[in-house]
Amino acid sequence: MDIVASGGPCGASVTGPDLTKPLDDRVIADIRDAWLAHHVLSFPDQAMSDDDLERFTLYFGPFGDDPFIAPIPGRKHIIAVQREADEAAPIFAESWHTDWSFQQNPPAGTCLFGITVPPHGGDTHFANQHLALEHMPDTLRVKLEGKVAIHSARVPYAKGGVYGDEDRKSRSMDIRASDEALKAEYRHPIIAKHPETGREGIYGCIGYITGFADMEPDQSMALLAELYQWQTREEFVYKHRWKPNMLVMWDNRSVLHRATGGYEGYVRLMHRTTIGAR
Ligand code: SIN
Repeated sequence: MDIVASGGPCGASVTGPDLTKPLDDRVIADIRDAWLAHHVLSFPDQAMSDDDLERFTLYFGPFGDDPFIAPIPGRKHIIAVQREADEAAPIFAESWHTDWSFQQNPPAGTCLFGITVPPHGGDTHFANQHLALEHMPDTLRVKLEGKVAIHSARVPYAKGGVYGDEDRKSRSMDIRASDEALKAEYRHPIIAKHPETGREGIYGCIGYITGFADMEPDQSMALLAELYQWQTREEFVYKHRWKPNMLVMWDNRSVLHRATGGYEGYVRLMHRTTIGAR
């Protein structure tokens, strides 16, 4: 197996294993080690079917629980991240986030497989949250130490939210906003040890995080804004360029990510699974 680091703050390209075939335990262990070291792995030239994507996902944990987005027909655990050439809705997931952080046990990782990739634009950005913490000025770190963040699905997925009933009219993705989003709230420490490596990082950002426990809303917002400015600095960001038949897996416990636009007039279609926490 050949692992080539991106040279940026995270990310590596992996060649050698054929992901359209079952993998042996040694290869799976090597991929896991590389994933924990580089946080984002890309596997080019893998003509994977949905069965292959599901089999690969299950090497690293159970499927995660994916709320608010309907699975593709015939599959329980695959969603389509898609955009039509003439779609008017805002880009899906264009704000920095870590997947489903409002859950009690958010997914450890996400797998995204590029089926139709536009000739330009549509990159995915990843911000390394271990580095963001390690390089953080003490003045900001002391404000975050011991704080517990409140993560909620309310802003994006409530019926009146970003992906609510109004948005649905112009979006091809099958997002199912629901009142369940008002209840989907969970608290996590803002500075957290990675459960597998023990390395500390920042977990989450404003968006799913709506405030800090035991803090006034305006103070929470000010601190979240200051944190956001820091944790998404260019020096922590790796910008991933897609190709068709490329699989990317990322570690939600180590990185924030966001989708980007810039491909008006072209279709973009990805199939996505989440790797649940063990
Ligand atoms: C996502 O956040 O799952 C989507 C990322 C992308 O479309 O690049």
